[in-house]
Amino acid sequence: MSLEGRTALVTGGTRGIGLAITRALRRDGARVIAIGKAKDQIEAFRREFAEDPLTSVEMADVRDTDALKAVRDRLPGLDILVPNAGVNTRVQALELEDEALWEMIHTNLYGVFVTCQVFGPLLFARPGGRVVVTSSLSAIHGMNLRAAYAATKAGVSGLVRGLAVEWGPKGVIVNAVGPGIIKTPLTMAYMEQFPERVTATIEHTPLRRLGTPEDVADVVAFLASDGARFITGQTIYVDGGISAGSSWW
Ligand SMILES: NC(=O)c1ccc[n+]([C@@H]2O[C@H](COP(=O)([O-])OP(=O)(O)OC[C@H]3O[C@@H](n4cnc5c(N)ncnc54)[C@H](OP(=O)(O)O)[C@@H]3O)[C@@H](O)[C@H]2O)c1
Repeated sequence: MSLEGRTALVTGGTRGIGLAITRALRRDGARVIAIGKAKDQIEAFRREFAEDPLTSVEMADVRDTDALKAVRDRLPGLDILVPNAGVNTRVQALELEDEALWEMIHTNLYGVFVTCQVFGPLLFARPGGRVVVTSSLSAIHGMNLRAAYAATKAGVSGLVRGLAVEWGPKGVIVNAVGPGIIKTPLTMAYMEQFPERVTATIEHTPLRRLGTPEDVADVVAFLASDGARFITGQTIYVDGGISAGSSWW
């Protein structure tokens, strides 16, 4: 499923799942521009792709529309948009502080929405435009300590359905991936703090393992490819079967 000649933009493309998406889209031939906000991650990214003229990185905060517009104005064009940047804070809903709540809403929902608003029109200018948003298993599967995060992810899965309807007639396909429990910098500290929850997750996952960023990235690359040409408005769960059910009962 070649992406040769296509240009992709991946927000949060500098680490974790986003970095794996950057690598997978490059592997399949696309030129990739990653967006990140932390200087050290951007420098590490530049080192990894120093020899690759078809990969570059831009510093921008997805909550800052003007910064996104500045990136857009430097792009030669766009075929594949991957709004992937996201954050999570794990506490009981009643204990979630306002600041952390707004950070999740602004990054995971507002940030994805304005990323689509700013870059979407570039997709209309070329045939076969694609949007692949990173949602989450928590969009459909309630989890302890993640009520606000789940709300934002259910929101972006709703957003892809709405955009699929509005943008389908313009030739743009809009889908999401819904990762399950994936080992990345976002989840690492939690996994190290609660190893018993990792064991329980594996026991309740039909495929009996945690996910990897590459498990998710390969599905994003598929959704960006011609193989997915008649799929739109969907969230594809990449969760080892957790959303299918469990054998614990
Ligand atoms: N890991 C999981 O188990 C899991 C499961 C389901 C869904 N997801 C979703 O998958 C996506 C990637 O998660 P991950 O696990 O790869 O997390 P991660 O390792 O923490 O990476 C998050 C990425 O998003 C970027 N980012 C965060 N806030 C940003 C902002 N305001 N502006 C620009 N970039 C920003 C980060 O850039 P900086 O480092 O520069 O801030 C980083 O590149 C998220 O949407 C997350 O909700 C993850």
